[in-house]
Amino acid sequence: MSEPVEGGAGRRPGCLSIGIVRRVMSDTRSARHMRTWSCLWLASPTMVAVMDAATEELRGAHDALAEFYAARLADVLDRMPAERAVLGLFCDLTLAADLGTSVGDIGCGTGRLAPYLAATGLSPQGIDLSPRMIEVARRDYPGFSFDVADLRDLPFADASLAGAVCWYSLMFLAPPARPAAFAELARVIKPGGYLATAFKAGDGQLRRAGGSTSLGVEFDIYWLPPEEMERRMTDAGFSTVFWAGRPPEGQEGSPQGYLLTRKS
Ligand SMILES: C[S@@+](CC[C@H](N)C(=O)[O-])C[C@H]1O[C@@H](n2cnc3c(N)ncnc32)[C@H](O)[C@@H]1O
Repeated sequence: MSEPVEGGAGRRPGCLSIGIVRRVMSDTRSARHMRTWSCLWLASPTMVAVMDAATEELRGAHDALAEFYAARLADVLDRMPAERAVLGLFCDLTLAADLGTSVGDIGCGTGRLAPYLAATGLSPQGIDLSPRMIEVARRDYPGFSFDVADLRDLPFADASLAGAVCWYSLMFLAPPARPAAFAELARVIKPGGYLATAFKAGDGQLRRAGGSTSLGVEFDIYWLPPEEMERRMTDAGFSTVFWAGRPPEGQEGSPQGYLLTRKS
């Protein structure tokens, strides 16, 4: 997947900043999502969410990118047989596991994968950190379920999903956040269910993305070593079913990695 930028290493000060509580708070399924953020009760009876600076930056950037992605990515899967092949394998194996049809589209962005997953017989439920991405997904793919949530605190019950896809959505996690995030994915997937992920493959160094657009956004991104991805999946309770990679195509700035795993 082409990311609208690749950049050099960089880091912001690790300060905390206060974000406004959004619609997510009125979403009953997302109430537990607030655990991801610390909550402050001010002198006034207004609760505000405290979101770390990197997450706030990432969310704001993807809010700004939502229409850009909607215009650029809507039909890109039609032109990407390798991505359809990996997603197709995920769909086939998940359906064959006979664990139900509910699957998570974790970090769903504009929701472009939902019709593909649904066409195979699966019932995707998309979640994304960015409220604007979710608004666009609901607008462009009505009839599907999309909610604002953080993949580090998923709004799904334990062992409630037959599978999940994390399509280019795990590349933003800083290394210390990865074990808990992968454990959270393991929590919601049924034993025997499948997890498919696509990611920019590389050396694991922090990069900055977003700057090549005229949108004035930047955010942290990691090109992930496939060996590390596989190890972290294994540590979280998944076993590898299939892995693959390919060189960059078109405007992609990095090789792409794919990993399909099964929950033990
Ligand atoms: C490169 S886009 C990919 C979107 C979609 N999966 C696709 O393939 O079109 C990455 C998406 O992951 C979302 N994301 C990043 N970190 C997230 C997190 N911690 N929780 C939920 N979504 C996240 C972003 O908001 C963004 O929409």
